[in-house]
Amino acid sequence: MSELTDRINESVSYIRGLYKEQPQVGVVLGSGLGNLATEIAVEKEIEYDSIPHFPLATVRGHSGRLVFGQLGGKKIVAMSGRFHYYEGYSAAEVAYPIRVMKQLGISTLLISNAAGGVRIDKVVPGTQEKIRGFKVGDLMIINDHISLATINPLLGPNDEELGPRFPDMSEPYSRELITLAKRIAAENNISVAEGVYFGVTGPTFETRSEYKMIEILGGDVVGMSTVQEVIVANHAGLKVFAMSVITDIGIRDADNTITHDEVLQAAYEAEPKLTLIFRELIAAL
Ligand code: HPA
Repeated sequence: MSELTDRINESVSYIRGLYKEQPQVGVVLGSGLGNLATEIAVEKEIEYDSIPHFPLATVRGHSGRLVFGQLGGKKIVAMSGRFHYYEGYSAAEVAYPIRVMKQLGISTLLISNAAGGVRIDKVVPGTQEKIRGFKVGDLMIINDHISLATINPLLGPNDEELGPRFPDMSEPYSRELITLAKRIAAENNISVAEGVYFGVTGPTFETRSEYKMIEILGGDVVGMSTVQEVIVANHAGLKVFAMSVITDIGIRDADNTITHDEVLQAAYEAEPKLTLIFRELIAAL
């Protein structure tokens, strides 16, 4: 037992004192993508502030809450509000709630985020296959990520009870869940792309040259969340599914700027499609 496992156990016993059921699925919702939480048949809500060892909301004032209840016939726990590295939390703090949800009993984690698109029109090398560049409002299932441009949440001593020192990251996003989600999308006439999420710290949006660099390095979208949560989820042996809504385009000819309002608006408009896929995916688990 380490100090970290002691803290997780204390967070979990506090929560279990208020809510006895065991959730099967955890959900983390991105900026402007919180509507799914309104579809949950809520059984209990617990403010982050009240949970021992949860990151303190010194940075933002209002910290959010865990929402427990039923969705798609399953017991789930959703994080209404997530922690970002750019707010001043450590990478491990950002991902702490994932460890708590694992200890509460979840085996699957669903994540959404708003991201900038950097995929441009191209032809797959050696083939005739054309890939279309992203436009605002597109949805992308994340099939891999690049996390080397931000801080790894597993730095520091490792507790073998929580997971291995050197976690395998060959399939950080479950192939099985990706296949299922693509089938659900097709059945509902929702077009979804698949690609690589490039994690950055933010809080600046990227410069033109940075967006270009990210595309050259193999990113299809770029964002300021998700990778730390996914690393800790893999360390903990959870099955992960994640999706991005493309809220702005990084590589573009026109001299347009990117604002947070524009990001929120695009997320809001794409949200119903994402919510449908998440709900049906949970039901199909
Ligand atoms: N860059 C980084 N993070 C983001 C972006 C972006 O363009 N859009 C939404 N989150």
